[in-house]
Amino acid sequence: MPIQLKSRSDLIRMRVAGKLTRQVLDMIGVHIRPGVSTVEIDEICHRYIVETLDAIPAPLDYRGFPRSICTSVNHVVCHGIPGSKRLKNGDIINIDITVIKDGFHGDASRMFTVGKPPILAERLIATSQECLVKGINAVTPGAHLGDIGAAIQQHAEAAGFSVVREYCGHGIGRGFHEEPQVLHYGTVGQGLEIKPGMTFTIEPMINAGGPQTRLLSDGWTVVTKDHSLSAQWEHTLAITDNGVEILTADPK
Ligand code: MF3
Ligand code: CO
Ligand code: CO
Repeated sequence: MPIQLKSRSDLIRMRVAGKLTRQVLDMIGVHIRPGVSTVEIDEICHRYIVETLDAIPAPLDYRGFPRSICTSVNHVVCHGIPGSKRLKNGDIINIDITVIKDGFHGDASRMFTVGKPPILAERLIATSQECLVKGINAVTPGAHLGDIGAAIQQHAEAAGFSVVREYCGHGIGRGFHEEPQVLHYGTVGQGLEIKPGMTFTIEPMINAGGPQTRLLSDGWTVVTKDHSLSAQWEHTLAITDNGVEILTADPK
C-alpha cells in the first residue's frame, strides 16, 4: 500500500487519537513503582483506555499480541508482554501505548524509572530521549527520511551507545503500521522526501552495548543480544505545510 496522505479531517481525528495516547502515559506514571507487576500496569491502562477514553487498545489481538500495552524492562528492547514479574528498585521500563479512536491510531512511548536506577541507565534514558528530539527536529517538508536517521545515529553513537536496526518507526493512520518505514540510522539527503499530509512515528531504540537483538520464543519480546540495557521513546508526528506537529505531545 502506498503512503496514505492525510486530509484535514483525517488530521483532526489523528490529533484526538494522539492526545488520548498521551493521556494514558500521563495517567500511568504514578503506578510505576517497586512491587507492581507489568500485567497490573497493563490492566490499569486497559481499563482507562476502554472505560475512561472510550477508545480501543490497538495491541490487544494485533497479530496475536495478548495484551493491551507493551512493557519493556531493562534489556528488553521492545514489544515486552505484560506479565506477573514485579518491578524492583533500579529497573527501567518503556511503556508503549497505541490507541484507536474514531478509526485512527495514536502511538507513543516513554521511559519510566523505578526508584533509583544506575547512572548508566539514567544516561541511556536521557540520550535516547535526546535522539527522539533530534530526529523530530530533522523533520521539515522537503527534508528526507535519511535526515532523521542520521541525526539519531550521530547522537547515539557520539554518546557511546548503539541504534537498533531491526525495528523502526512507521507511517500511521487508519493502519497501525503504514508506509513509510522510518529508520533510526542513515545518511543525510537519502530516503523519501518528507511531504505535508504524512503522519508517522519516530521511536529510536538505543542500546547501552551492541545493536544486535534477539527475539524470545514467545514470538514478541525483543532483547539485546548482549543483555545490555535498552531505552526507547516514541511520538506520532504529522507533517503540515508549516512544519511538524507532535500529535502525542502536550501542546503546552
Ligand atoms: N507500539 C509498537 C510500535 O511502536 C508496536 C507494538 S505491536 C504489539 O510500533 F503488537 F506488540 F503491540
Ligand atoms: Co510505533
Ligand atoms: Co509504539
